[in-house]
Amino acid sequence: MIGSYISEQLLREGHEITIIDNLSRGKFENVSPLINTYDGKIKFTNDDLVDYEAAKKNLVGIDSVFHLAAIVGGVKLAETSKAAVIPTIDCNVARACVENNVSHVLYTSTACAYPVSTQTPGCVGVKMTEDMMDMPAEPENLYGWAKLYGELMFKKFHEIHGLELTIVRDFNVYGPKEDNDPVMSHVIPMLIRRTLEKPNVPLTVWGSGNQYRSFMYADDAARGMIGAFKQIKNGSPVNLGSEEAITIRELAKTILTACNRTPDDIIFDRAQPEGVFWRCPDTTRARTFLNWKPEISLQEGINRAVTYYRAHLK
Ligand SMILES: NC(=O)c1ccc[n+]([C@@H]2O[C@H](COP(=O)([O-])OP(=O)(O)OC[C@H]3O[C@@H](n4cnc5c(N)ncnc54)[C@H](O)[C@@H]3O)[C@@H](O)[C@H]2O)c1
Repeated sequence: MIGSYISEQLLREGHEITIIDNLSRGKFENVSPLINTYDGKIKFTNDDLVDYEAAKKNLVGIDSVFHLAAIVGGVKLAETSKAAVIPTIDCNVARACVENNVSHVLYTSTACAYPVSTQTPGCVGVKMTEDMMDMPAEPENLYGWAKLYGELMFKKFHEIHGLELTIVRDFNVYGPKEDNDPVMSHVIPMLIRRTLEKPNVPLTVWGSGNQYRSFMYADDAARGMIGAFKQIKNGSPVNLGSEEAITIRELAKTILTACNRTPDDIIFDRAQPEGVFWRCPDTTRARTFLNWKPEISLQEGINRAVTYYRAHLK
């Protein structure tokens, strides 16, 4: 999903791009309008980056890489072992960059790589700064560990091979085009889907609803990632996200309202996972060095997402 927004912004800036995706979660329809609009400037390859030879052949002649391919999903997916493949993908991309003399790579890391000790009920109100990753490592799940390892591995490739490196840590990105699998997707597409598919049934929200998250619209994330790419080449990480944390209860109400439903029509299923209690970035570094801040409000972003999912209801 985020890759399609980055692609569009890069094409608008006049760059030529190649997209590599095995469509395990992404959809070709997310980028096919770009192929029609920017004919000759964009190439799409359906290939699996778990295969090193596929990674290597696709990076021939490429000078910059935005690396986003990963196994991505919500709190349920994070409980599975699927993220185990992420280091293989990351390693193949890093090796293929060096093999093809790619000059610069952006690695997409995540809030999930921060220690759980920074995300407990006692931390509410304490926004996560980039240096909190330096505490004893303790990501919440295998996905977070995989991304933490990815950061370390790309830093080593930067140090040893001179590969210019940008590391962004995205916090809860959402927007139209995101996969909305009923079990494995992120909270916003999942709640919108449930709300629209079952208009006469109370909305089931996993967990207590008291847990906090902050959400960043995908177009803002893409703009921040491109800005970070232009400004940072030494692997120094930067948080990208909204500093406005809300509870999942408030999020659910916002979604119900955007779908023209009664905001309190909610059931909390405490048997389901809810993840860490608190997660919100400090974005001083992005604001200071990239002159970046999110521009799309949560209300506006959710309205856009609801319009999209309404039009794509199966
Ligand atoms: N969405 C978020 O909230 C969020 C937050 C932090 C970090 N990130 C990171 O941003 C990146 C993009 O996330 P997204 O939300 O756009 O998720 P996404 O699932 O929409 O994008 C990931 C893409 O990788 C592709 N992919 C997976 N395995 C592949 C493989 N073996 N070979 C080739 N392609 C493969 C998928 O088909 C998908 O299109 C990921 O690296 C993710 O970890 C996302």
